[in-house]
Amino acid sequence: MTKKLKVGLIFGGNSSEYEVSIMSAHNIYNAIDTSKFDVYPMWITNDGYLANDEDSRKVLQDPKMTVANPHKVVNISNIIELQDRPEMDVFFPIVHGNLGEDGALQGLFRIMDKPFVGDDVLAAAVTMDKEMTKILAQRAGVKVSKWISIKRPEYDDKDNKKLDYDYVAQELGQDLFVKPSNQGSSVGVNHVLNAEEYKAALEDAFKYDDKVLVEETVHGSEVETAVLGNDKPIVSGAGQITNAKDSFYTYENKYNSDSTSTLQIPADLPEEIIENVRRDALKVYQATECSGMSRIDFMLRQEDNAIILTEVNALPGFTNISMYPKLFEEVGIPYSELITRLINLGIERYNHKKTLLHKHE
Ligand SMILES: Nc1ncnc2c1ncn2[C@@H]1O[C@H](COP(=O)(O)OP(=O)(O)O)[C@@H](O)[C@H]1O
Ligand SMILES: [Mg+2]
Repeated sequence: MTKKLKVGLIFGGNSSEYEVSIMSAHNIYNAIDTSKFDVYPMWITNDGYLANDEDSRKVLQDPKMTVANPHKVVNISNIIELQDRPEMDVFFPIVHGNLGEDGALQGLFRIMDKPFVGDDVLAAAVTMDKEMTKILAQRAGVKVSKWISIKRPEYDDKDNKKLDYDYVAQELGQDLFVKPSNQGSSVGVNHVLNAEEYKAALEDAFKYDDKVLVEETVHGSEVETAVLGNDKPIVSGAGQITNAKDSFYTYENKYNSDSTSTLQIPADLPEEIIENVRRDALKVYQATECSGMSRIDFMLRQEDNAIILTEVNALPGFTNISMYPKLFEEVGIPYSELITRLINLGIERYNHKKTLLHKHE
């Protein structure tokens, strides 16, 4: 019998997606193939501490006991204690948002010389920033919505024309979305139709980031795809999200049971559209140098069926209602096999990098 691999399943953290992370980890913990892997839950608590194994396991067994959102915690430097777990064969970080999904944690794994699941440093960092993602996608020939970015010093300058609704409306139209460039789960995202709403939306978005994007609103439904792989990535079919009129895919609509958004897997769309979405998803995955996995989200513009990139999620949700695992289930890869593949991809990438290093010795 081959030896079981020890998997450090890291969850929690200090982002606004703390609860989502716990639910994702809970599902992974329950679905992981225990004939292949020994899983060690590692909980980054809302005090920024790395909890002991027993407490970590308890949280995943009963996620409802978890304490409230840790927004205020700015420091999770205790995670450096991961270096005291050299027996781990591979890490599975399911820490959404800042530090977990933006390349920082990935950098720590690289320094510790350990394989890990999901995107590497570069892809995690660029896809965390919605403006960088747009720029790379555009280069690859994928459509993105028109946008203006505003940096903190520009926001602090009261005379800056970008703060004037009439100016941005002239550039992008009156119907706008305002969002932090680096965030997730729709936190700090607002739909704006007038000067007053614009002012409030900027204020809200700047709570979360030093760079805010103002985008033209794309009217239509949302189409998401899941991509899996390193050098030869595979793309799932597409899932579709239809929002209620005058609403969008807000935090509440994403995670609450009384959501007014409806999810459809597979998307009920003509084959040609699905193929174009899949083709564009692959282009974006490669342009942003993703490996392991990513979920790639588009808007399908109602008026002309144009496929317009919204964003790339290096660490998509893995809750029981999440799109990424569902999209692969739909094409015949069950949740637990998906986890096995993701772990193997992390190990494959690590081994490849090792060979590369040895070539120069
Ligand atoms: N330009 C846009 N046009 C229409 N809807 C948008 C636009 N940008 C964002 N949205 C809506 O806001 C949601 C969240 O925005 P998104 O860019 O995906 O940020 P997050 O990382 O928080 O998910 C989207 O799922 C969509 O419902
Ligand atoms: Mg999104």
